[in-house]
Amino acid sequence: MIGIIGAMASEVDGLKAIMENKRTETVSSVDFCSGTINGTDVVVAEAGVGKVNAAVTAQTMILRYNTDIVINIGVAGGLDKSLSIGDVVIADRVAEHDMDTTPLGDEPGFITGINRVYMECDPEIMQLLERCTEKIGIHTITGTIVSGDQFICRDDQREKLTGIFNAAAAEMEGASIGHVCTMNNVRFGVLRAISDGANSDSEMDFPTFCQMAADNSIEIIKLLLKEM
Ligand code: ADE
Repeated sequence: MIGIIGAMASEVDGLKAIMENKRTETVSSVDFCSGTINGTDVVVAEAGVGKVNAAVTAQTMILRYNTDIVINIGVAGGLDKSLSIGDVVIADRVAEHDMDTTPLGDEPGFITGINRVYMECDPEIMQLLERCTEKIGIHTITGTIVSGDQFICRDDQREKLTGIFNAAAAEMEGASIGHVCTMNNVRFGVLRAISDGANSDSEMDFPTFCQMAADNSIEIIKLLLKEM
């Protein structure tokens, strides 16, 4: 079973709409829609925004639906200079940029317990996603995606995320899903389409381009499910 998590309705409704044999169950206030898409068994959930919502959703999927792969889809703020709105970033690793125990001598982003800053995405899922974006013809880069409970739109935030984490994109869920998957030894991937430049235009750009960018990530996942 493949689990697919988005934060907002715009990021998952396009998948729920084409699901066959659909069954919905609500656990911890999150709706889990299971069925088949393009012949593949999937469970799709709209987690809500932020790291805790995403973590609860990922853990529930793993325990209740026995997902062996979890993919996080949706939109992100672009940090890499080559990115334009609508482009795609496939994570090779993720980090929680707001995890900070540096006063205790840890590196920025260090997560005590799993004892690392970066959680590695599954190489096979990454390659499949890369092949799909190439087929569709969307400009795509592979790199670090960082997550935190903050909407990134200021120079000082952007500089921290590129300077410390060398991040290609910023969002609010992927790394917490990676964190949960790492704790459970479950393979995961993160695919994000750019809705804004994580800058002073983001307040306007995010609402304007969110659905268009979310649709790009949904198209890629549809193709992935066909190819799996
Ligand atoms: N998701 C989309 N754009 C974002 C931004 N600028 N910061 C955080 N998450 C986002």
